[in-house]
Amino acid sequence: MLEGPNVILRGLELDDVDELMKHWNEPEHRKFILNKTPQSREEEIEWIKHGWQIRSEGKGYIFAIVFKEKNLYIGHLQLDIKDQISKRGSLGIAIFNKDYWNKGLGTESMKLIVEYAFSTLNLHSLELELYSNHPQAKRCYEKVGFKEVGRLREAYFNNGQYVGTIIMDLLKSEW
Ligand SMILES: CC(C)(COP(=O)(O)OP(=O)(O)OC[C@H]1O[C@@H](n2cnc3c(N)ncnc32)[C@H](O)[C@@H]1OP(=O)(O)O)[C@@H](O)C(=O)NCCC(=O)NCCS
Repeated sequence: MLEGPNVILRGLELDDVDELMKHWNEPEHRKFILNKTPQSREEEIEWIKHGWQIRSEGKGYIFAIVFKEKNLYIGHLQLDIKDQISKRGSLGIAIFNKDYWNKGLGTESMKLIVEYAFSTLNLHSLELELYSNHPQAKRCYEKVGFKEVGRLREAYFNNGQYVGTIIMDLLKSEW
């Protein structure tokens, strides 16, 4: 378990699927997620099990973000090991409960997983991708220390139009 002032990051349990399904397919949250297709309870159960599998193989780590004050699962983070030799990882975060947006919890959660990635897993660099029209996410990642390193133009068809993405990264030496 990783602990900050307001959140803990812990492994996902099958029981977590109830809270996840209350929010996961809501359009207001879903518009920021790269995968647009609504997902079923069974698919989410498989995803949780997939998280256990990749963790046991050392290929990736999925953590629930729990708001400490209410002991409430509000989102999750995924760290995938992209290259074992170069020690590159990629990160994704989703706070699916929108009542908890813009309270600094995304930044706090990202800082916890970045510290884990560099200090425990000994990764060398981390990268992530976000929609270019998502300033809230960009600001969150900048506060953690990520820098914009490139853009993909018209990379995703989203809500009737093509949207570009921003690639950001962070080196261990900058942390
Ligand atoms: C994106 C996400 C991870 C950010 O986490 P968060 O807890 O909401 O973010 P934080 O509160 O830590 O930081 C958000 C920052 O963006 C700023 N912000 C919010 N809306 C903004 C906007 N429209 N333009 C510019 N800045 C904005 C906030 O003011 C805050 O910056 P500040 O602390 O300097 O004031 C979270 O909102 C989330 O998971 N959203 C839904 C799923 C998603 O978008 N996942 C990421 C896909 S790349």
